[in-house]
Amino acid sequence: MPILKSVMNRRREVFSVGISDDLQSTIADMVDGRRGILAADESSGTIAKRFDSVGVESTEEHRRFYRSLLLDTEGLGQYVSGVILFEETLGQKNGQGRPLPQVAAEQGIVPGIKVDKGKGPLAGAPGDLITFGLDGLEERLQGYREQGARFAKWREVYPISPRNPTRLGLTANAEMLARYAAVCQCCGVVPIVEPEVLIDGDHSIERSAEVNEMVWHEVFHALHEHGVILELMILKPSMITPGKECAKAPPKQVAEYTMRSLRRSVPAAVPSINFLSGGQGPEEATANLNALNQMWQAPWQLSFSYGRALQEPALKAWEGDSGNAEKAQAALLKRARLNHLAMLGEYRESQEEES
Ligand code: 13P
Repeated sequence: MPILKSVMNRRREVFSVGISDDLQSTIADMVDGRRGILAADESSGTIAKRFDSVGVESTEEHRRFYRSLLLDTEGLGQYVSGVILFEETLGQKNGQGRPLPQVAAEQGIVPGIKVDKGKGPLAGAPGDLITFGLDGLEERLQGYREQGARFAKWREVYPISPRNPTRLGLTANAEMLARYAAVCQCCGVVPIVEPEVLIDGDHSIERSAEVNEMVWHEVFHALHEHGVILELMILKPSMITPGKECAKAPPKQVAEYTMRSLRRSVPAAVPSINFLSGGQGPEEATANLNALNQMWQAPWQLSFSYGRALQEPALKAWEGDSGNAEKAQAALLKRARLNHLAMLGEYRESQEEES
């Protein structure tokens, strides 16, 4: 059985050199049943868009100041166990001259790094996309590790249309995620595997469930073929919701669809599922996570890895003015705390009114 043999070889490769100890301790530091991940890894183009929405120019100093502000938030480590950084941030320092990965680590937050190089059209599959960045990944990971990163993130993007994703889109994107994850594990870096099915469009919640299920099946098939050790990775999927041009589904319905599809497709060996927010509003993303955690016991931790849903209120409070730093930090801490409560299934809408 050649596939089985390659899985066994990969496992031997990871276990033989003690790499699994590094991976295991990173998982233990990140998955504790009560904390989630802050995604602060916006690429240069994306952060420029986010800053633009509050009238701030995306200069290197503004990006450094803003991301230092996030990581310097006192108490953030109570609710956040990992932060995904962009390459530039890994080399930046806070106001006191301390490297930002170190600032995170001192709060008990594991620093990680986005390693993909963005997406483009997938040739041969009109409407589908593919992500770039595998060339030289091993060397880059070694450098990132020296700068303090202990986990990585790679995002494949799947638009929904009546024809997309195509079969080629499903297999090609899954293959990229699996190759990336296998390289990470061999380098002692925990991979976050992120297949993002986009919320854009007018598709129904049933169509979203159908697509996400196809995507997850294909991804776990590829992860198996590439010998990725499921116990030593984190899955970062979308929640199952209707397209954003449709009326929103109530949290209970989102949770039922999401849980049903996850149970059909994600092996119980995966320790944690950290959802992306993907265009859900901050309160909506918290309410949906809460509903998921109020359902029957899941075999995985159900947590968050939110970008916009954690940062939006903080960004609005900041508006590029250093005098607003404390207000912005309070806004971030509040969202982090409410999402922590959602992990426990103890979030109530009335808590939004409390400061
Ligand atoms: P959002 O939560 O804003 O979707 O960002 C998460 C992320 O990391 C996207 O890659």
